[in-house]
Amino acid sequence: MRVSCQLHVNQGDLEIVLPDILKELHSKYKSMQEGAVANYIPELAKVNPDLFSICIVTVDGQVYEVGDYEQLFTIQSISKVFAYGLALEDHGLDYVLTRVGVEPTGDAFNAIVLDEQSKRPYNPMVNAGAIATTSLIKGSGPTERLNRMLDMFRRYIGRDRDVFVDISAFTSERSTGHRNRAMAYLMLNFGMIDRNIEEALDLYFQQCAVIVNCQDLALMAATLANRGINPITKEQAVDSRYIKDILSVMYTCGMYNFAGEWAYKVGIPAKSGVCGGILAVVPHKMGIGVFSPRLDARGNSVRGVKVCEELSQQLGLHLFECSGQSRF
Ligand code: DON
Repeated sequence: MRVSCQLHVNQGDLEIVLPDILKELHSKYKSMQEGAVANYIPELAKVNPDLFSICIVTVDGQVYEVGDYEQLFTIQSISKVFAYGLALEDHGLDYVLTRVGVEPTGDAFNAIVLDEQSKRPYNPMVNAGAIATTSLIKGSGPTERLNRMLDMFRRYIGRDRDVFVDISAFTSERSTGHRNRAMAYLMLNFGMIDRNIEEALDLYFQQCAVIVNCQDLALMAATLANRGINPITKEQAVDSRYIKDILSVMYTCGMYNFAGEWAYKVGIPAKSGVCGGILAVVPHKMGIGVFSPRLDARGNSVRGVKVCEELSQQLGLHLFECSGQSRF
């Protein structure tokens, strides 16, 4: 057991304890029925609520998983993290900050609210901020922008499986996403978006409909934990100079109006999506993916939150853990 604040994974310890910890957590929460599957996007309502998987990928490429870890689902809001990285690479931090702030809202993810003074959306993790962020992705037209987005996801996921958009989920959200449309028009009014609104929204709906599984979430998280380098393919998925910016907004805003309690209890940067996924990053150590579609009132996976709370506690993963509780 380690008794200092320095965070270094002891790979030997991980190999021994993780398979059992994951199995125990999976069987402990398997029968939990709390929460409800998101139904405001008709395609999401079709998912099997009992699906449940947990996956961890370490920065040296070890994979630990349990449950339905190959089950495919749409990434939804977790995509916001990666679109933010691409926008930062395309424009640099100073410019992106003129369009999207970094303040937590304390409001729901779909609140129609902008900063009263600056007229910017509050942060890139809520819908308004994510739509503004996505509208910054460079490309000569909608096809090139989508291809650049998909190539970016491929760098994070980069294995033997290609990355696609689920067309049913995309069209389902496109034909019902009027609340997002309202936000986009509000931002157009204040000059926070200057591209064709329907094109910007299409790209946002497409990024939310990218198909992943729980292994992918953990690998994407591990890539962020590993200075932007995919631990399996060794490809640089995002410029390492933006990792601290990405992880900072995940830490303060990634779990919406639960972000404060999450930071307090779990203590690692994370992002949830209404698909039921949670992606969490333990810098320099590992990426965690959890998938379980039943959500709480804030739109976070009920079992996902429980699993992450326990993992953080059992492994001593909280970033500010200094009491000797860390197992590594
Ligand atoms: O914009 C939306 O409503 C969805 N495409 C994504 C929302 C989402 O995942 C929020 N997360 N909890």
